[in-house]
Parts: sequence; C-alpha cells; structure tokens
Amino acid sequence: MSDRTSRLVVLNGVNLDLLGERPVAHYGTITLAELERSVSEEAARLGWECICRHTNHEGRYVEFIHEFRHAGALLVNPGAWTHYSYAIRDALEVVTCPIAEVHLSDISSREDWRRISVISPVATFTVAGKGPAGYIEAARRLVSLAGD
Ligand code: DQA
Repeated sequence: MSDRTSRLVVLNGVNLDLLGERPVAHYGTITLAELERSVSEEAARLGWECICRHTNHEGRYVEFIHEFRHAGALLVNPGAWTHYSYAIRDALEVVTCPIAEVHLSDISSREDWRRISVISPVATFTVAGKGPAGYIEAARRLVSLAGD
C-alpha cells in the first residue's frame, strides 16, 4: 500500500471550531482539537496517517477537497454547508477514494432544513447522531473499504 492510499483526511467545516461551546445537547462537550486527536489516534492504530483540516470558508473547504481528492479516504463534516452547498457536493463528486459524511448530531431528527443533505448522494456512507464515536466508526469503515 502506497503512502497516498494510507492517508485518511478529515475535513471539518463551518462552526466546528467552536465545538465545546455549541449546544451540548446536540454536540456534546468535546472540542475540535480533542476530536481530531481521537480520530488521528484511531487511524494510527489502524496503521494509517491522518490529516485534519478545518475552515469556516466554503471556498477553502472546496480547495481542501481538491487537494486531497486522491487521498486514501476522506471523512467530511461540512457543518451547515451539508444542507445547501452544491459547490461542496460537486467537489466531492470528483474524489476518487471512499467518502464518509459524518455528523455529530442526528440531522434526521432536528429541524426540517437540517434533514436535507446535498452531500449524502455523493458520499459512500453517512454516520449521524453518534457523537465523536461516529468519527471513529467512520474511520474504521473507511479503512476497511479502502483495503478492499
Ligand atoms: C453538524 C450538523 C449540522 O446541521 C450543523 O449545522 C453543524 C454540525 C453535526 O455534526 O451534527 O454545524 O454537521
């Protein structure tokens, strides 16, 4: 397996830098730094390198997707962009590796506008409502898919 294929890239989007201050009922108390550390540790246990990026700028997020479009696996939580960003959706369509769409909260049981994900149709699978454990589950599934 080449270096490129054993790289898990985790892209957190808008407002996820404020985890730890956002509504605890939906997002818990974990900070972004803690979340990134825990998924990186899981990737390392699986023998994978993990690269984590965050931005509050949609265009920058699209550029991260371009940069890492040929990584081994991509884990994305675009935050509120999930619900309307066709730019992010179109960028993900070009990605050549498995893509996990992950949400800490259960977007299917919140406001009506949150129930729509324009990302799901281009993701390999979606994990939502499992908090930080959802990131770990997604990392494991991605690594096993990439090994197929
Ligand atoms: C989120 C869900 C989105 O609806 C919300 O806008 C977020 C976080 C989640 O992880 O549950 O910012 O993606």
